[in-house]
This record gives sequence, structure tokens and C-alpha cells, in this order.
Amino acid sequence: MKIRTVILAAGEGKRMKSSLAKPLHCVCGRPILEWVVEAARAVDPRPVVVVGHGREQVMARIHGVDFAVQEEQKGTGHAVMMAREFIQDADIVVVMAGDAPLIPGEMIAGMVEESCARGEDAALLTARMEDPTGYGRILTDGEGRVQGIVEHRDATEEQRQVKLINTLSGCYRGDLLLRYLDQLTCDNAQGEYYLTDVVGLMVRDGYKVGIALCPNAAEAMGVNDRVQLAQAEAAMRDRLNRRWMLEGVTLVDPARTLISADAVIGQDTVIYPDNVIEGKTVIGSGCILYPGSRITDSRIGNGVTVQASVLDHAQVGEGTTVGPFAYLRPGTQVGSGCRIGDFVEVKNSVIGDGTKVSHLTYVGDADLGQNINVGCGVVFVNYDGTYKYRSVVEDGAFIGCNTNLVAPVHVGQGAYTAAGSTITQDVPPQSLAIARARQVNKEGWKGKYKPHAKK
Ligand code: UD1
Ligand code: CA
Repeated sequence: MKIRTVILAAGEGKRMKSSLAKPLHCVCGRPILEWVVEAARAVDPRPVVVVGHGREQVMARIHGVDFAVQEEQKGTGHAVMMAREFIQDADIVVVMAGDAPLIPGEMIAGMVEESCARGEDAALLTARMEDPTGYGRILTDGEGRVQGIVEHRDATEEQRQVKLINTLSGCYRGDLLLRYLDQLTCDNAQGEYYLTDVVGLMVRDGYKVGIALCPNAAEAMGVNDRVQLAQAEAAMRDRLNRRWMLEGVTLVDPARTLISADAVIGQDTVIYPDNVIEGKTVIGSGCILYPGSRITDSRIGNGVTVQASVLDHAQVGEGTTVGPFAYLRPGTQVGSGCRIGDFVEVKNSVIGDGTKVSHLTYVGDADLGQNINVGCGVVFVNYDGTYKYRSVVEDGAFIGCNTNLVAPVHVGQGAYTAAGSTITQDVPPQSLAIARARQVNKEGWKGKYKPHAKK
């Protein structure tokens, strides 16, 4: 049995009031449409996405699907017709709304399986909503058999009392869908070709249309504006965070913890509120994330502590502590047992195991060995206004407070730099480099000092 899925994502999404195409607005770090595509893959490895408005943006961002183009948005029925070439030989066509990110793939698979088992010609995914305003309503006869769907705008006052709504997702016998799409008219409040009218036509001709009910009505929602976007985000966040808690991660306040769908977190890690974990971040086990960090596409080992810091494409080894107020920029690789303290910025640099950079320091384009101590206020001076250069500090070195290391410079193993030095030449191993003016004390100077007389 051949199943093809058609996802409708060509609409303008006017109510979003955005220059970004609606399907690309993100829910927990992934575009809405990507969630739908993932759910569709439960029944079809290569779904068809109907694109139109903002299609260049959408096609550049969504992969592993076939695209059909709907030049003009003449309604959901018209949109499905645009995918005709892909669904011609399908036994079953599953249609999904491109703006409903919370519908799980299992629900789609269950709907198809059960409808086939009941020998139906189509089935609609539905939900019972307390406030069904705006949704199409499922009309049934006295025995609960589907008669048709009426759009909110076209519904009578009595029909608007119906709480059973159409999610727009459903499955259809392929040959019947194509036959009835050709019979649609745009005789309705919006002057569009409604996919939903196919159902009434099928029932009229004696075909059997069943329903599948979403047990959790909130999952059926479509995102049409930013309020619904925030509702979808909250629901998805809740779903993802529950999963991590059940996997053994402590979230002190899950409502205030943002974990991207693509992140991975180890057991016994404790995450305090107001952490934002983005992209494909991997966090080990037994870590503590105190409040207020943003961690993007980074890899954090086991037993790491992070406090109020920003980590962007950075790697941090086991048992290291980061922050408060550290900034680890792309290309940062910190070893294990290190300390990256307050107001320390690291960029495109490697920091070896056991090395400590505790306070007020910039490390840019540098390779630091193991067990180095970098004092307070050190600057790796990496830029001459035109070019950037790398510096190297070998194992066991001690970089005194307020040292400037003017790249390219090489500090040998176990060497020291005196506090306040501006190091412009290599420092041999085990030696001390002092690069500052010697102190001069002018004794009795205060008594001889005459302020200029006022004129
Ligand atoms: C639609 C359904 C409604 C259902 C609701 C569920 C119809 C006529 N109405 O209404 O019964 O309760 O979804 O959320 O089907 N689209 C296209 N091309 C078009 C028009 C729309 O691709 O010409 C796409 C949109 O991008 C969107 C989806 O279809 O992803 C739904 O369109 P939208 O305008 O949001 O329909 P609703 O008014 O929400
Ligand atoms: Ca919608």
C-alpha cells in the first residue's frame, strides 16, 4: 500500500505580520514546518510540501522532501491539487496542515491504520475544543457519522456551537481525493477551494468518512499569529522538558528552562531557571547549570558547572567550572579540570587540562597547555588592526596579572611573566620575563612640589 503525505504550507500567514515565512517561525528551536515534516515521516519518508508564499526561504531551509508550488493561494483544496503529480499513484493520501507543529507522528500513523482497519474511504483528525472559534466544525448525523465540514466563517449560529473541530489533517483514498478535488467550487465566504468540502461530496456519494480524535485537544492547534506561536512553544517546551525530567535531569523550574529539540542532556544534571540551551548542544551528566546561561551548539563534559555565561560553539571538558559572566566564543576548546572565571572571554583558542583563567581576561587565537595559571586582567593581544596572529603558552607557565601577550609570541614551559609586562618576544622555558619600566621613587618629592600659581 502506497502512502503519500501532502503538507500545506503555501499560505501567506498574514496574521503573523512577519517578513519571515510562517512555516519557518520556530517552536523550541525548529521551524514549525520541520515539526510537521517529522510527524509526516511516521507514514511517508519523503513528504510533499506545498509551498507558495515565501517559498524561496522555505525551500532553502527544509530538506528531504518534495516540493510542489502553489503560485496563487486559492485555498487548501487548490493547494492539494498542486501536488497532483506526486499523489497520482498513491493508495492513500495523508494531508497535513503545515502550521500545526504539535501533532505527533504516532497520531497520524494511528489514524491511517485504524481508518484502514475500519474500511473507511477517508478519516479526519479532529479534536474537541472548549473554544472552537476560527476552526472548521465537523458536522455529524444523529449516530455520530460524519456528514461534512463547515468553516467557522460559513457556519450558522447553531453549527458554531459544535465543539468537534477539523485539524485539517486527514487521510483519503487517493483516487477519491483526486476525483473530488476536481469537483470543488469556490462558492463560500472566502471564495476559495476548500479541501474540507471534499468530505461533504464523498458522504453525498455514499463513501465512508471516519474520525480520529486527538486525546489532547491542545495538540491540534494551528499557529496563525504570535499568540498561538507562544502557546505552541509552551506546549512543546513542556513536552520536551518532561522527556528530560523522565530521563533523570532535574529542571528546577521547567517553565523557565528552554531546551532545544536537538539538545542532549545527561543524567543527574541540574538545571536552574533561565537557562537557554540551543541547537545541537550536548551536556554531560552530573553538571550544574546555575541561572542565566545561553548555551548554543556546544559540547559540555560531565560534572561541569556553568553560571550566568554565554557559550557559543564551544567545548568544555569534564569537571571544569565556567563563569559567572564568562563568554566562550566559537572555536573555544577548554580541557578538563579547568577554571574559566568571571569576565573571561575566550575565542578560537585551546585551553589544556587543569589550566586556570580566573578573572577579567581575554584569550583570543591562542594555544594554552596544561596547568597554566593566567592571572587577572591578562590580554592576548591578537590583532594588529589588519591581521590576527596566534600565541602559544606551554604547560605549567604562570602569566602574571595584567600581562599583555602581543601575538605572535611563545611562552615556554614553566616560564613566568612579571605582572604588568607587555610581552613582545618569546619567553624561554623556566625563565622569568619582565617587560616594564623599573620603578623609581623620588624621595621628599611632596615637599618640593609647588602647584602652579593661579593667574
Ligand atoms: C484550516 C481549515 C479548517 C481547520 C483549520 C485547522 C480549510 C478551508 N480550513 O483553516 O477547517 O479547522 O485549518 O487549523 O481547509 N494553505 C495553502 N494554500 C492555500 C491556503 C492555505 O497551502 O491556498 C495552507 C496554509 O499555509 C496553512 C494551511 O494550509 O498551513 C491552513 O491554512 P489556513 O489559512 O491557516 O487555514 P485555517 O483558516 O486555519
Ligand atoms: Ca491555520
